[in-house]
Amino acid sequence: MSFSIGGDHPKRTLSVSRGRDAATDAVAELVVSSMRDAIAERGRFTWVLAGGSTPEALYTRLAESRFSSRVDFGRVDFFWGDERCVPPDAPQSNYRMAQRALFDAVRPSPERVHRMRGEDDPERASAEYEGVLRAFHAASAAAGESSPTEMPRFDLVLLGMGPDGHTASIFPGSPEALEAKRWVVATRDVHGNARRLTMTLPLLNAARKVAFLVVGADKAERVQEVLGPVEPKTLLPARLVCPTQGELLWFLDAAAAARLETTA
Ligand code: 6PG
Repeated sequence: MSFSIGGDHPKRTLSVSRGRDAATDAVAELVVSSMRDAIAERGRFTWVLAGGSTPEALYTRLAESRFSSRVDFGRVDFFWGDERCVPPDAPQSNYRMAQRALFDAVRPSPERVHRMRGEDDPERASAEYEGVLRAFHAASAAAGESSPTEMPRFDLVLLGMGPDGHTASIFPGSPEALEAKRWVVATRDVHGNARRLTMTLPLLNAARKVAFLVVGADKAERVQEVLGPVEPKTLLPARLVCPTQGELLWFLDAAAAARLETTA
């Protein structure tokens, strides 16, 4: 079931699937169709990956021939919306999860895998990754593929949402939620312990398309706060994701959508 969210905003849709697998399949289809369109139109696809446990099933599905045979992964530039400050071979690494679930199967061009260096000092790594993005954006502008004045407009940003309403590694109440200039910053997780790297909201909101994949009953209450009509008391980063010119798509399973009043 799909219907528009947030009033009649034409570019914000919500898709509710019966279970986690169906929701994941729906996002896999979105990724494939978005890849094919972008590659046909601009010769490549720029994709910002999400971390955490939910997207692993999506990456594994995309590695299956029923999906991978339909796209040219050699034309995909992979980025990360966030990373844990750990080495790339650590179990918590978002890079490692994508490598094992997808890259080992589809073998992207190494120069197109733009990894956040979680193993480095967080402040230095965030500045370094912003430098990578600025260089990539400048090269794209020089090739006439984008405007040098705009922010980079990623073809697709994939996001998840934590039970507290965080997204990427932007946590409720964190100063990074209000960052207005930098594209990448170092943050701390919700417990204030583990260091993280994250793209900021201005960069995420510049994307052509942002897709959330959120499943599970433990997210239902926060989903209602994020998508509902009433402004929650706490600033929820997931509610602040609203592409300025792009499309916003939410993919939920019935469990995560259980608290939503659907008018459709
Ligand atoms: C991360 C993610 C984070 C994640 C949410 C949901 O690095 O953990 O980027 O924002 O999307 O915490 O995580 P789950 O999918 O594991 O529930």
